[in-house]
Amino acid sequence: MSNSLRIGIAGLGTVGAGVVKILAERSTHLTAACGRPLELVAVSARDKTRDRGIDLSGVRWEDDPMALASAGDIDLVVELIGGSEGIARELVEASLKAGKHVATANKALVAHHGTALAQAAESKGVALNYEAAVAGGIPIVKAMREALAGNEIRSIHGILNGTCNYILTEMETTGRDFADVLKDAQDLGYAEADPTFDVGGIDAAHKLAILASLAFGTEVDFDNVHIEGIEKISATDIAFAKDFGFKVKLLAIAEKSDDGIVQRVHPALVPEGTPLAAVSGVYNAVAVDGDRVGHLVLEGRGAGEGPTASAVLSDIVDIARGLIVAPFIVPATKLKAPARPLMEAHKSSFYLRLRAVDRAGSMAAITRALAEASISIERIVQRGGKGDDSGRLPVVFVTHETDESTMARARTLLAQHEDVAGTPLMIRIEDGELR
Ligand SMILES: NC(=O)c1ccc[n+]([C@@H]2O[C@H](COP(=O)([O-])OP(=O)(O)OC[C@H]3O[C@@H](n4cnc5c(N)ncnc54)[C@H](OP(=O)(O)O)[C@@H]3O)[C@@H](O)[C@H]2O)c1
Repeated sequence: MSNSLRIGIAGLGTVGAGVVKILAERSTHLTAACGRPLELVAVSARDKTRDRGIDLSGVRWEDDPMALASAGDIDLVVELIGGSEGIARELVEASLKAGKHVATANKALVAHHGTALAQAAESKGVALNYEAAVAGGIPIVKAMREALAGNEIRSIHGILNGTCNYILTEMETTGRDFADVLKDAQDLGYAEADPTFDVGGIDAAHKLAILASLAFGTEVDFDNVHIEGIEKISATDIAFAKDFGFKVKLLAIAEKSDDGIVQRVHPALVPEGTPLAAVSGVYNAVAVDGDRVGHLVLEGRGAGEGPTASAVLSDIVDIARGLIVAPFIVPATKLKAPARPLMEAHKSSFYLRLRAVDRAGSMAAITRALAEASISIERIVQRGGKGDDSGRLPVVFVTHETDESTMARARTLLAQHEDVAGTPLMIRIEDGELR
């Protein structure tokens, strides 16, 4: 009897085709490395006639991906379809129930159902591996599960969405505004036709929820990630930030506080000269702070065929070697229910940009309003020029540390102020942990 690991792959798009290529092209090495052959037995996708640039001769085609879950000749189902519900979820659940190992790149699925899926996998003694679901080619899941096991993790700061990082980098280097650069990113294939998941911060939040569970031994808790996207960031903000010695990044942060685990995704001012500030274009990075290892930064490609398929292969190789570990490090039944500190209690200093009428006394009036709202100001910068259509000019305040609820009150007051147009834009300044 063959001792090969018999694999079924559902989804032959960007990632699926990449996995098939590696299995074929590195077959000799992988067999030696695993001590057994990796045998692709069956695949499934929607369109059998589509040319995918891969050789599927000798591989069974299943029109219905669910057939992989019930097939007697498959040990491992690799789910590369995507989506937190529907066929991807049904396939993963059925495969685990049937006692098959599962590898997936599906961050939405793991973020929404990770704890229940981990329980299902553990009850059958099979693997649920998802290295590719977080930061593409960066081996952060394996690092958390294995290499950092001796540490108590204090915080994670990630740049987890390549589309956002590309857009912010382009805005910085060209001075163009968000909508303009987003259109270019879509034309280049870096952004989806519907970019909401990426630019709205949801994709980064999926990945953060998974990382937080790995880091802190808590249930995966996507619903309690505070999420803000990059849609309101302008080239003006990026230019001001640069003058102050910062870059604007979409950060995904999970950290321990006295009240529990804070999970937040939002644009942030990151000090120049720090590792995360230097991460540009479509690259991702994860900075981990562990009590023994100290600060550790991993950087690499967060998406694309090669990096993502590389991560899926890491999962497959572990399974072939018999390395089956609890999906979230500790058994799923021992994951703690996360305590959920309120974002309102979070403290930082803030960048606050507003558009103000250019008249004598307006700055004094606005500054007074901020003082009345208990905001202490470190710095004010006003740009000259002819202003917008109604003659209003951008003014930026950098505050001393304050809490979110005080800041929210101040923004509401300012929005009602006769010299201010609209609600001021606020960006959190992430300083301490990143230096
Ligand atoms: N692309 C990346 O860079 C990247 C990075 C990290 C993680 N991921 C994750 O990897 C997964 C796959 O992403 P992808 O970019 O490879 O997606 P994709 O290119 O859109 O491929 C999706 C595949 O799923 C197949 N499919 C869709 N609905 C199906 C159904 N009902 N039955 C059978 N097959 C079905 C499609 O078939 P057809 O080809 O016949 O249409 C296609 O082959 C997702 O969870 C994604 O979030 C992707």
